Amino acid sequence: MNNSKLMQKIQQLKRKRNAVILVHNYQIGEVQDIADYIGDSLELSRTASRTNADVIVFCGVRFMAETASILCPDKLVLMPDINAGCPMADMITRNELKVLKKEHLKATVVSYVNTSAEVKAEIDICCTSGNAVKIVESLKDTADIIFVPDKYLGHYVSVKANRDLILWDGYCPVHAKILPEDIVRQRKAHPEAKVIVHPECTPKVIQLADETLSTSGMCEYAKLSEASEIIVGTELEMLYRLRKENPEKKFYPLSAQAICQNMKLTTLEKVLWCLEDMKYEIKVPEDIQIRAKRAVDRMLEVS
Ligand code: 13P
Ligand code: SF4
Repeated sequence: MNNSKLMQKIQQLKRKRNAVILVHNYQIGEVQDIADYIGDSLELSRTASRTNADVIVFCGVRFMAETASILCPDKLVLMPDINAGCPMADMITRNELKVLKKEHLKATVVSYVNTSAEVKAEIDICCTSGNAVKIVESLKDTADIIFVPDKYLGHYVSVKANRDLILWDGYCPVHAKILPEDIVRQRKAHPEAKVIVHPECTPKVIQLADETLSTSGMCEYAKLSEASEIIVGTELEMLYRLRKENPEKKFYPLSAQAICQNMKLTTLEKVLWCLEDMKYEIKVPEDIQIRAKRAVDRMLEVS
């Protein structure tokens, strides 16, 4: 079946199931093209919390679908490929966090949304790349803050919010592949271009960039900035949306190595099968869902 036939079938089935398709900015182009909503983790969490649909098809990675299930326990949340995980989210377990909390009994615990539901059940407040600085700034009256699992995002937030944070040794293996020498090389090749990077990049890369932004922050920057050439330091597929929405501008990847294989697992065929067979369901157990929801709701209130 060709893509336009697949897309047509997906639209028909979506209506029949009263489903909504949420798509992360790193999904492959043709999956982005069938989205009802496309965005970063924060926007997609907000959209999930407000939708009237009975079924949420989440095209992204597991922690994102779990967050939708945490926010909408009565809805059926489906993932087209159950194997799409996030290696960074797997870098901290609930038990590891419990040990860290015991070492810092008075600390407030902030976790990046890139964590399992079990970890979210152990924290005080969640954050995304789009609101992490604001969330930490909102915790003015707390003594210590534990920030997990991304040490690079944590370092960026600590500098921006001017707060010491107790960090965990996690990181995104995709963004870690973007190197300072990539910025030097690409600035040389495109001297007029601005450089924007994701806060999951290393501190050295962030230091050399013009702006540090969440994936949807990058979309807004591309629209509003006067720059006609932009070098983009994040997962490669981000350039698909940037080019589609800004055909008059030029976008260059900072590194061709920055590919998240987990984000590539979702295809149009799998979205169709997901709606046909109504799988794979992502359901967070109630005891964990109730505790994790407190932390995600608290984030949505602050941001
Ligand atoms: P955003 O919230 O900026 O989309 O980031 C999510 C993510 O996994 C980046 O690697
Ligand atoms: Fe996880 Fe990195 Fe992939 Fe984002 S890009 S989903 S943080 S592995």
